[in-house]
Amino acid sequence: MFKGLFQKPVHSMPSEVTMDTGGLDMTNIPQHIAIIMDGNGRWAKAQGKVRTFGHKAGAETLKTIVRAADSLGIKAITAYAFSTENWKRPVTEVHFIMELLSRYLTSEIQEFKENNVKVRFMGSREGLPAIVNEKMDHAIEETKNDTGIILNLAINYGGQAEILHAVRSIAAQAAKGELNPEDIDAALFEDNLYSKGLPAPDLLIRTGGDMRVSNFLLWQIAYSEIWTTSVFWPDFTPDMLVEAIKVFQKRERRYGGLIQK
Ligand code: FPP
Repeated sequence: MFKGLFQKPVHSMPSEVTMDTGGLDMTNIPQHIAIIMDGNGRWAKAQGKVRTFGHKAGAETLKTIVRAADSLGIKAITAYAFSTENWKRPVTEVHFIMELLSRYLTSEIQEFKENNVKVRFMGSREGLPAIVNEKMDHAIEETKNDTGIILNLAINYGGQAEILHAVRSIAAQAAKGELNPEDIDAALFEDNLYSKGLPAPDLLIRTGGDMRVSNFLLWQIAYSEIWTTSVFWPDFTPDMLVEAIKVFQKRERRYGGLIQK
């Protein structure tokens, strides 16, 4: 059994996260993992509870998984908390998730700081309640000097909207004569994405059984390995994270090329 064995002395997470790391190659840990945390509603419904109960449980699961990821030496987690399409849900559910985000960013800030977690966000700030925007700014400010794992929360995020946002920004720079269209390359494009400065995810995890990308990180996951499980997000455990990484470690990443044998 593993119990915080790889935690770094300066920014170790609370040690209650336990997982079995037997068989895991600690020299080949993905740097950046993206997660589609799906199945909260179905998890709650299966217990005869309202959907929002599942979101609350899902927020707890995220805390546990960030701790586990940090212990394993993962450098960044990008979690899909609210998509540009999620506004279509009943207004009560949308309000609940916004309230949950706001509370989460308040209640967890101390733990983030104590554990050296750097919080950042991706998505459009427009349309979010003012209180959520304030809490997001506060979380960024409070954790800006942290050097441990990055928790990148995708809020009011859509991959297509992100690409359009980047295109508009680049077009505006070109229109002002600040850049030549011929100079637009992948690096410049990536500098205009919300994920600027983060490496592309090595691994994309989706819980809840569906086999789609759901408008998540459309540019960034070009060569990410994908691992899915039918387990609903609130039931996702550190051991399942280890399992996903073990599968990742068996994959041959070719990036469109050939492996010389
Ligand atoms: C997908 O489950 C989940 C969401 C749309 C919201 C994700 C939100 C959380 C995990 C909690 C909030 C996060 C933080 C950081 C406070 P679903 O509702 O689509 O589930 P279903 O597919 O069973 O309906």
